[in-house]
Amino acid sequence: MAMVILGAGGGLGKALTNALTAEYPEETIVTVSRQALEAPGERIQRIQVKDYSEDALNTLVDDFHSQGLKLTGLISTIGMLHDDDTFPEKKLGDLSEANLRKLFDVNAIQPILALKSFRSVLDRKHTAFWVQLSAKVGSIEDNYLGGWYAYRASKAALNMLLKTASIELKRTHKRLVVAAIHPGTTDTALSKPFQSRIPDEKLYTPELSAKRILKVINEIQPEDTGKLWHWDGTELPY
Ligand SMILES: NC(=O)c1ccc[n+]([C@@H]2O[C@H](COP(=O)([O-])OP(=O)(O)OC[C@H]3O[C@@H](n4cnc5c(N)ncnc54)[C@H](OP(=O)(O)O)[C@@H]3O)[C@@H](O)[C@H]2O)c1
Repeated sequence: MAMVILGAGGGLGKALTNALTAEYPEETIVTVSRQALEAPGERIQRIQVKDYSEDALNTLVDDFHSQGLKLTGLISTIGMLHDDDTFPEKKLGDLSEANLRKLFDVNAIQPILALKSFRSVLDRKHTAFWVQLSAKVGSIEDNYLGGWYAYRASKAALNMLLKTASIELKRTHKRLVVAAIHPGTTDTALSKPFQSRIPDEKLYTPELSAKRILKVINEIQPEDTGKLWHWDGTELPY
């Protein structure tokens, strides 16, 4: 049995790798990243991918099939808020077609295609989890501030895609729990440009956020499938 972390090279990806390895001593931990990461221990299998395209993901899953590897859990941290050419919009006039497409691709399309590819290697006999890190700002009901159009909308789309898949997968994977989890504002490259407005006590270390994410994962059950969770274990509205 194995557990996988997709997007293992980011701030939360690295912290989750360490946390999962400590929490599940019996499991092989497979990390997937576009980056060449050092292998810190024998139990961690590192896989480097060119990207998270459907082709790349299917090749990965084919390898799992040929090794006879079944997964009891997968955490995907894949997501982006900004890069050299993209910054969250403050107003409608800041919107660009290219940035909207890019964020929908990374935040919604790649994660759901990952679930499509990996569903065939998810264990059906035991309780298993599929977790994608999402964001509270993707909650439509909770949107009081506006702004950040592409990030908010792409995370809202992600939540809908996961919820829809969770309904379908109840039929084939009765013990699977599909969850979107908001990690809280965490000190990583993703939040760096926005940290000056966050009080110190509300900016969490990746290690603390990873611990909280695992606590949520350990508490949720197959009957909870398809929900969006806050890091404190409460359910967030869509
Ligand atoms: N940090 C926060 O305050 C915060 C708050 C709310 C939600 N989140 C969510 O938590 C998740 C992890 O974020 P993080 O803080 O750890 O950020 P991060 O350090 O930037 O890591 C993001 C991960 O996403 C992948 N990624 C980034 N850009 C990509 C692109 N253009 N194409 C494909 N993959 C890409 C990377 O995977 P590789 O390993 O392949 O490079 C990376 O590991 C994200 O989904 C984010 O939306 C974070």
